[in-house]
Amino acid sequence: MRARAARFVTSAADPAQFPPATLPEIAFAGRSNVGKSSLINALTGVASLARTSRTPGRTRLLNWFWVTTPRGTPVHFVDLPGYGYADVPLAVRDAWRPLIEAFLAQRSELRAVVLLFDIRRGAGDEEIDFAAWLAARGIPLVTVVTKADKVAKNKRKPLAAAIKRDLGLAREPILVSTQEGEGLDEVWRALQAVEDR
Ligand code: GTP
Ligand code: MG
Repeated sequence: MRARAARFVTSAADPAQFPPATLPEIAFAGRSNVGKSSLINALTGVASLARTSRTPGRTRLLNWFWVTTPRGTPVHFVDLPGYGYADVPLAVRDAWRPLIEAFLAQRSELRAVVLLFDIRRGAGDEEIDFAAWLAARGIPLVTVVTKADKVAKNKRKPLAAAIKRDLGLAREPILVSTQEGEGLDEVWRALQAVEDR
């Protein structure tokens, strides 16, 4: 499964620049360098749609993408700036939280947040807080473990199970490797389930 079409719409550095909420929105959130932009590219099948980088903190703006899902429904994917990168200037770090909170609190068409975890790091305090913040606001959460290819196959499930336990999730996070193409159909199915609710 992959998107039928995808293109960049716009970027925003602050809420005044957010575009009108004209389509259902799926936001991608997680630590800097966890693989948010790579996942968007893999789901859409457009390799250079969202900019990726080895340098953490690549995506500092919110980026909107217009995506036609495999079923033909138009939605917006929103690539959120990553958190937790120590080398980001303090001013940028301080601006992150209000910006993300403004987005999550304001968007009338927000259908779900896809929260990503690096398989080698698991769930930290930021992810636990973030998941609780979403739950308190009734925002549906889809969890994904990225870079599955970085650990041996038999270690992957137990690491996903540990994240489920640490966050008290109803379901295990989806194991994804954009390198191996693993888990992408499952992410699309989870997004369709959100859409059908
Ligand atoms: P920020 O924009 O800085 O918040 O990062 P991001 O979460 O968008 O991460 P990005 O997609 O730019 O990926 C960061 C690095 O991880 C890049 O070098 C990617 O190639 C690599 N990466 C992403 N997904 C995978 C994966 O599934 N497997 C492996 N091995 N590397 C991955
Ligand atoms: Mg990025």
